[in-house]
Amino acid sequence: MLKITTLVENTAIKARFRAEHGLSMLIEKDGELVLFDTGQTDALIHNAKLLGVDLSRIDKVILSHGHYDHGGGLKYLLDYAKPVVYAHPEIFRKRYSKLSDDGNLRYIGIEDREFFESRGARFVLSEEPIEVVKGVWTSGFVNMVNDFESVDKNFVYERDGELVKDNVDDDLSVFIELNSGLFVLFGCAHRGIINIMRQAEDTFDRCVSGFLGGTHLGPADELQRKKTIEALREMDLRIMGPSHCTGLLMTSRMYCEFGDRVVFNNVGVITVVED
Ligand SMILES: [Fe+2]
Ligand SMILES: [Fe+2]
Repeated sequence: MLKITTLVENTAIKARFRAEHGLSMLIEKDGELVLFDTGQTDALIHNAKLLGVDLSRIDKVILSHGHYDHGGGLKYLLDYAKPVVYAHPEIFRKRYSKLSDDGNLRYIGIEDREFFESRGARFVLSEEPIEVVKGVWTSGFVNMVNDFESVDKNFVYERDGELVKDNVDDDLSVFIELNSGLFVLFGCAHRGIINIMRQAEDTFDRCVSGFLGGTHLGPADELQRKKTIEALREMDLRIMGPSHCTGLLMTSRMYCEFGDRVVFNNVGVITVVED
């Protein structure tokens, strides 16, 4: 059995939880725990305590990519646990968004590797898929193969003193093997949810049966939104839990399209998937 508890998300199902722009989901599979992303602040700690999660048991963390709203909570977790952190080698890029209220670049990266290691984190960085616990894999580097998904044009990073386009090469998702099919967790899905799920199917030669997580369809253009919905229709998934950077508009649109197969995946939601 697979159990996913959403610890950080933009919206919460009860007033006592804290909501923020960010994402964190706790994976429980066959008694093993893996934390996927950490939100941006100590909301992770606050919500985990309310949900009865023993933070000292978290010895494995996967970070989807090096944006503050996914890796920002890690420093707070390190007060409770000293986990191994799985990520892509490009996670520590100094990255910025061109969108800010004052017209300046806004820093959207995370702290550097030394900062986290001095507080007890140990990193395993790889472009290749890694099986973190039995049946729970990182995606590895995701190839972008279709013609309608693209990386947000407002992202840049600093390379050799220059600002260059950031294709978020470090964007990892989680692929979970179940008897009923592959279950996929996205961080922000910067490289496109259809590209990511196709890669899962190619890697394991099996079909995806559902997903939870950020789809980045909120900031995407209409062509990407439309073609993504068309592709989802063909895939015929059993569970779709669009979250975080999907936004309310696109989440509503998916609900109109797919009905009860859509899970509103907010803080405090527990999703159980039969094996
Ligand atoms: Fe992101
Ligand atoms: Fe995000």
